[in-house]
Formats: sequence, structure tokens, C-alpha cells
Amino acid sequence: MRIDEDKWAACDREFTEYLATHQDTPDRWMILQALLTSPTWKALFGMVNLEERWHILDAGCGYGALALALAGQMSLEITAVDENVRYLQVGEYIAGSLENKGYFAGGSKVSFEAGDIYALPPGEANYDFAIVRFVYQHLSDPHRATASLAEVVRQGGYCMVIDIDDQMSITYPEPSDAYSKLHEAFTALQEANGGDRYVGRKLSSYLSQGGFDIQMTLILPQAQHVTTERNDSSRLFTLERLRAAREDILEAGLMSQQDFDTCMEIITLEQPGEQFQSNAQVVVLARKP
Ligand SMILES: C[S@@+](CC[C@H](N)C(=O)[O-])C[C@H]1O[C@@H](n2cnc3c(N)ncnc32)[C@H](O)[C@@H]1O
Repeated sequence: MRIDEDKWAACDREFTEYLATHQDTPDRWMILQALLTSPTWKALFGMVNLEERWHILDAGCGYGALALALAGQMSLEITAVDENVRYLQVGEYIAGSLENKGYFAGGSKVSFEAGDIYALPPGEANYDFAIVRFVYQHLSDPHRATASLAEVVRQGGYCMVIDIDDQMSITYPEPSDAYSKLHEAFTALQEANGGDRYVGRKLSSYLSQGGFDIQMTLILPQAQHVTTERNDSSRLFTLERLRAAREDILEAGLMSQQDFDTCMEIITLEQPGEQFQSNAQVVVLARKP
């Protein structure tokens, strides 16, 4: 896909403006995550061949950041599905705003639909390409999700799954004790909910066992120099994501309220030092035979 840089930037700008003007957006970290990792998706889709007018499924789309970025690039019919209706409503709002600016590539359409990745509507078994980004790490039954995807992708169609593997993260200098404690509780919470922050290495097996032929596996690296600015986007993302998990971490008894709040205060107030951070996502492209 030939990337139109201006269009890609226009989509990121729309999400950035939305965040700035809607302070009460739930799980703001998800939009920050999409923005922070946007350059990696731009690079990835520069290497992927999508065809005009393909019917694309974005499963577990969240706010639809990826679906909307792609719909600006070429004529695609994208169905963006998520179980959380609040995210879909925001996605629809942003899509409307982009539409008013004449953003979409000729004929492109993004429809937001409520749905469960474990039970994708079988009537729509005609997707040319399914994308599942940062969703498998939250799933307690990845095999069932893969079977569900295999039902709705057409024969000869593709499924691209992208996710993290925490063992591929490096931070220098090491994060503070307060941050490490919070991150440990956050990881334990995700595991307690059936998730897996080491899912990246398992994706190709899940897809292969689900009947797909693996076409490509790659690592999408990202490195950043975190600055001393308080509003550094990587730092904001970390704080927002931990804040959003507070109630669940406390409820699961993974940290006491006092401990959590003290650690948050420390990392919020600590003089942010410069830091090198790198992480990587695993990308698996598979074809339904
Ligand atoms: C970290 S977000 C990723 C959002 C989006 N794919 C992106 O990359 O920006 C994970 C998303 O998966 C969705 N999700 C989790 N389990 C799901 C399920 N069983 N069915 C549909 N969506 C699900 C969540 O609601 C959330 O929007």
C-alpha cells in the first residue's frame, strides 16, 4: 500500500484533537497508545498489499484508529467491531468529523458494529482481510477467537494479528521501584482476567492451529527517547493506563489503596529523567487456505 503521509497525519491529528477536547473520554490510554505506535503501523502497512474495495474486518477495533487510518489511504469497506459500545460511539463521532473534512479515500466506508470476537456474525463470512491489533493479549481463549476469525474470512483471505510480548521490552535506565510495583500489579491483573502479556510469541501457533497458513511473521520494533517533558506522550500513556486500571487492581487485591496511590504519586511527581525505551510487537500474517 502506498502511504499518503498527509492523510495518515490528518487521522492522527483528529484523534489528538478529540483527546484534547474530551477530557472525560474513557480509557484515554487506548487513543494515546494508537498515536504513540502510529509510525510503526504506517511502516507496516507500507509493506502490506491491500487491494482496492477489499472488505476488511478490524476485530476488537477500540476507537477505530487503525480502521480510520486505512480508510483514508485507499478505497476500502471496513467493518470495525468491538464489544465496548462506548468506544464505538467515539469512533463514529471521529469518523463523522473526518468525513466532513473530505478525508476518506474515494468509496471508503467504515461501519462500527458491536460484537464479540468469539462470535463474529457468520453471515458475513466474506472478509478479504481481518486485522486484530492488541486484542489477543486480553483474550482468555485465543483458540476460540481464531476459530471465529477463520469462520468469517473468505477462502484465500488473510488474517493479520499483531500483539505485544513483554520480554521484548528494554528500558534504560531501569524504571523506579514505584513504577515496577505498579507494572507488576498491572500485569498480574491482566493475567487474572485471562490475558497474556507474552502472547506475541504464541500468535503464529494459534493461527496455524486454527487452520490458517502462515505467510509472514515479523517483529515491529519501536524505540523512543523519552524526554524530561512532563507531557511526553510515552509518559502520559503510562500514567493514563495505570490510572484506568486502579479500581480493578484494588478490587483484585493486587495492591492496597495506599500503596497504589503512593506509587502513582511518586511516578507522577518524580522529576522525569531522560530514558531510552524500546519494545516490539509481533505481526503474523496468515492466509485461509
Ligand atoms: C487495547 S484495545 C485495542 C484497540 C484497537 N485494536 C487498537 O489497536 O487501537 C483492546 C480492544 O479489544 C476489545 N476486546 C476485548 N475482548 C473483546 C472481545 N471478546 N470481543 C470484541 N472486542 C474485544 C476491547 O474492548 C478493546 O477495545
